[in-house]
Amino acid sequence: MKVARIGLVGISGFGKTHLKTIQKLEGRYIEFKAFSEINYEKNKDEIERLKSKGARYYVDYQEMLDKESDLDFVVLSTPIHLHSPMAVHAMEKGFNVLLEKPPSVTIQDVDKIIDVSKKTGRICAVDFQNTSGKAFRRLVDYVTEGRFGRLKSLVGVGKWKRDEAYYQRTPWAGKLKFNGHYVLDGTINNPLSHLLNNLLILAAASTDGGGVPEEVTAELYHGHRIESEDTACVRIITQAGIEVMYYTTLCNPQQETPFILLKGTEGEAYWDYSNVLKVKFSDGNEESFNFGYEDLFENMYVNMVKSLFEREQLYCPVDITRNFVLASNGAFESCDSVVEIPDDCIIVQREGESVVTYIKDIEEIIDKASSEKKLFSEIGVSWAVRSKPFKLSGYREFRKYGGEGDSRG
Ligand SMILES: NC(=O)c1ccc[n+]([C@@H]2O[C@H](COP(=O)([O-])OP(=O)(O)OC[C@H]3O[C@@H](n4cnc5c(N)ncnc54)[C@H](O)[C@@H]3O)[C@@H](O)[C@H]2O)c1
Repeated sequence: MKVARIGLVGISGFGKTHLKTIQKLEGRYIEFKAFSEINYEKNKDEIERLKSKGARYYVDYQEMLDKESDLDFVVLSTPIHLHSPMAVHAMEKGFNVLLEKPPSVTIQDVDKIIDVSKKTGRICAVDFQNTSGKAFRRLVDYVTEGRFGRLKSLVGVGKWKRDEAYYQRTPWAGKLKFNGHYVLDGTINNPLSHLLNNLLILAAASTDGGGVPEEVTAELYHGHRIESEDTACVRIITQAGIEVMYYTTLCNPQQETPFILLKGTEGEAYWDYSNVLKVKFSDGNEESFNFGYEDLFENMYVNMVKSLFEREQLYCPVDITRNFVLASNGAFESCDSVVEIPDDCIIVQREGESVVTYIKDIEEIIDKASSEKKLFSEIGVSWAVRSKPFKLSGYREFRKYGGEGDSRG
């Protein structure tokens, strides 16, 4: 197969994972031609190392696009608020794009990306790598084939732990807005965005309109003293009447494997991030798969290359992520503000070099709420605050928190 010439924008932070993947695939699937990184001083050693291996360096990504017109695709691993302007600009200049998740923060921005992708005929794939594992692909196939009958509900649970350093790593971490731009950085848009995206992909696979959120009710909280949420419970009712529940926290005492439970009229399934799938059909048949470790980042690159040169279907084209952005915007619209968990309901403690924040009893709270498909306020959690269902039909613009400034990144 032809090798794809690529350029990367943003090399530190998550860019390091991209560089590792690129190194693994170099020569077989891709040729690393160029990269852009705005912060030379901080990344001097890595920039010089990459240059010495033959990749051309640009401070300004626009100059990279101007000078490297023969790239087959560009990878954008930059802060969330730069995704939309960069993806739009790259496609308008004729490049295909592998864009980090989330595709954008707002519905107006993802619509712009989808529109430009259609107009230019350029591919924009979103690096939601959890769409690419064998267990998830198998589950999507089963749902598409109708093997669970009509889908009734999907429940996603993600209980993770993050320390203070996580919020210090970049200036937009944990913010609602950064430099006048929306970031809405939290479980929904960042670390556990994969879970929400996968829930809605499954719902979409079941029937027309299955994944399109029609009404969202969300309760958003933070245990860490940040602006945005680090703990969420969200109820989404889709156009097809499927109930999608999403429960997440970054204030759990330990890191647990996120999972999805699916229920249909003719069967049910359990899928998790460790590439495990268990299905049970109403006729008594059961199947269990453990596909073991897969490099999901490698999957996304190979899929991008094969989609360009062999017309393989993308795991995560930008248009299927619109439901995710709609649900995310609906969640922030549904509650007046992100609620702070009171001091007496959190534990902040030093663990070795790090400082961690836990919400007391958060595991039990999420387990109870998710097993009953209720929001935290509906099971009587003392700090929980009720919010209102938000209708999304005809919803085209997110403009909470005083709107967005004009200047871009
Ligand atoms: N797929 C995943 O599982 C996963 C995991 C973590 C992060 N991410 C995503 O990766 C992206 C980057 O996150 P991060 O934490 O690395 O962010 P970051 O703030 O550390 O920025 C990443 C890099 O982009 C560079 N950069 C910023 N503006 C630039 C510009 N105009 N031109 C060139 N380079 C520029 C920064 O200097 C930095 O090196 C985010 O979208 C995040 O959501 C994805």
